[in-house]
Amino acid sequence: MSKRYTITAALPYTNGPIHIGHLAGVYVPADIYARYQRLIGNDVAFICGSDEHGVPITIKAKKEGVSPQDIVDKYHAIIKKSFVDFGITFDNYSRTSAKIHHDTAQEFFKTLYDNGEFIEEVTEQLYDEEANQFLADRFVIGTCPKCGNEEAYGDQCENCGSSLNATDLINPKSAITGNVPTLKQTKHWFLPLDKHEAFLKEWILKGHKKDWKPNVYGQVKSWIDDGLRPRAVTRDLDWGIPVPVEGADGKVLYVWFDAPIGYISATKEWAERVGKDWIPYWKDENTKLVHFIGKDNIVFHCIIFPSMLKAEGTYILPDNVPANEFLNLEGNKLSTSKNWAVWLPDYLEDFPNQQDILRYALTANAPETKDNDFTWADFQARNNNELVAIFGNFINRVIVLTNKYYDGIIPEHSEFNNVDEETLAAVKAFPAVIASSIERYRFREASQELMNLARLGNKYLADEEPWKVIKEDEVRTKTIMYVALQIASALATLSEPFLPFTSAKLKTILCHSELDSESTWSDVSSKNILIPSGHQIGKAELLFSKIEDKTMQAQLDKLEASKLANEAANITVEPQKDTITFEDFTKLDIRVGTILEAEKLPKTKKLLVLKVDTGIDVRTIVSGIAETFTPEEVVGKKVTVLVNLAPRALRGVESQGMILMTETPEGKLVFVNPDSKTDTTNGLQIS
Ligand code: MF3
Ligand code: ZN
Repeated sequence: MSKRYTITAALPYTNGPIHIGHLAGVYVPADIYARYQRLIGNDVAFICGSDEHGVPITIKAKKEGVSPQDIVDKYHAIIKKSFVDFGITFDNYSRTSAKIHHDTAQEFFKTLYDNGEFIEEVTEQLYDEEANQFLADRFVIGTCPKCGNEEAYGDQCENCGSSLNATDLINPKSAITGNVPTLKQTKHWFLPLDKHEAFLKEWILKGHKKDWKPNVYGQVKSWIDDGLRPRAVTRDLDWGIPVPVEGADGKVLYVWFDAPIGYISATKEWAERVGKDWIPYWKDENTKLVHFIGKDNIVFHCIIFPSMLKAEGTYILPDNVPANEFLNLEGNKLSTSKNWAVWLPDYLEDFPNQQDILRYALTANAPETKDNDFTWADFQARNNNELVAIFGNFINRVIVLTNKYYDGIIPEHSEFNNVDEETLAAVKAFPAVIASSIERYRFREASQELMNLARLGNKYLADEEPWKVIKEDEVRTKTIMYVALQIASALATLSEPFLPFTSAKLKTILCHSELDSESTWSDVSSKNILIPSGHQIGKAELLFSKIEDKTMQAQLDKLEASKLANEAANITVEPQKDTITFEDFTKLDIRVGTILEAEKLPKTKKLLVLKVDTGIDVRTIVSGIAETFTPEEVVGKKVTVLVNLAPRALRGVESQGMILMTETPEGKLVFVNPDSKTDTTNGLQIS
């Protein structure tokens, strides 16, 4: 019987494009799940949209000197296109700036308000006097009281996942001005999570949530065990959804209050568009609600949103929240601000029409139980050793031989031998095996089972060797090819959730649409014939091709270059000192000298005592370069010397001038060297 599924994928913040971490953690697994549920005949609403409120967007807008609306319009379009490009089959991709969402979120708030579900309280909140603004969420950074991470935000620590109140932070600093905040009174509405503790314990801890992923269950349990506290769901900000009650001028809903409601508004929008009723998707107990998210979103989806839904009273609760861990990139944390990422639009530019390779590599190496590392070497290996060598190779041989021997018409088989029977029986087992992995949210395992089906096909051909058998036994060859074609057809059907573009291509090659009835997922296990004798197929077309080392090296170089460019852009250069006159400048008497002797000044770390031949005389200069140079290294060096600097005593030794030094871009001290040919300096520095 068909079951109803509401499948949500975390609404991405609309302050930048999507990268591989988002795809691996949330959108590919969610899409595999949704496609699979549709394939087995279930009724699916697969929902997502842009998360367009919240501080990250305001910060980005400030940085770029444009309005928040400009930012969200730009990235909404880019993100939406990436999802289409990568075959993520949302039934609706909405946005939280949509009117239907503002209305839905305000109505939700109003219901809780009217039911007395909030505490209204004036409290002291962090305030930036210079920016004239309250500091909540990402506007404030400080040390996490739970784990000591020094870059925790006002609402959450991304290191340990704790949800925080801004006033919990140790040593808070404004992200706008860097100032230490003051405290100022303001009124807000709080959701008393403590009041929902008993329900959460019953629902998650005592309920049937033991089948939740251990990382999710464990985190949630420890928060509940620590005790929950009321949480403000409103903010003093000018970007967001206005709080719809009296006395709330200038206040908006907390982004994490409105965003999950976005799932509901996006469902409504979709239902209106396709002429359905949205209510069963959110209110019918028989609907299975599943939230796909990354691990930094766990507390919001397992504690706060369920408490909101429960407080509202008419909604169902999530059946599962299969959160993933994080994906790293070449050994380092993916980072938007450090530009350490593979952005989806860039990937498609470099690998046009090769979405499935990335989908596959990310699934096969998904961060399901622990953080995982994406490397281009692994990407290449997944492509060359699995997609090309196993899947592609099998399909190619089947199609080429069928065309060569039978002009593309599927041959009649004669009696099956044991190997044929076993192979056909093994094929029939795959839908259930893959399904079981998918149902348990083990997408890596599922993708490997799919590859095992291709392996089975490859092995069958390698063992039966139709290209040899054809020379002596045409009848047997027909049977071998018939069996191999059944496997190819099964692959076309079962690969659809994982490799949708390849599946479509393969179905076209096999002319699946010309069949009386195209196989469904369950047909693969129940039908004896997936693709019948006499059916005409098309010509071979390469599904995958080998990726060379130099292509991967280019990606590594690109990453390195973007990191360096980013570092260069972030170097803070000291502002220029006050302008001096030319007369001032001519007062400096700068000459080239030679260091004759050098020794460390005892009991100091930095100082060398130098004897320098200035051309006028030999004099003593004390220079703070002992941490960079040994005395031996500098003897004999030509250096630039300011010779008319008033003498001064340094640790008891009189210094009669100054050696001019500068820093390399890496921060290393070097002499302003009269002999040097290249100039890598970025300004003189007194040493
Ligand atoms: N925008 C959030 C993030 O990127 C996720 C929001 S999920 C929703 O971390 F539930 F609020 F929609
Ligand atoms: Zn922490």
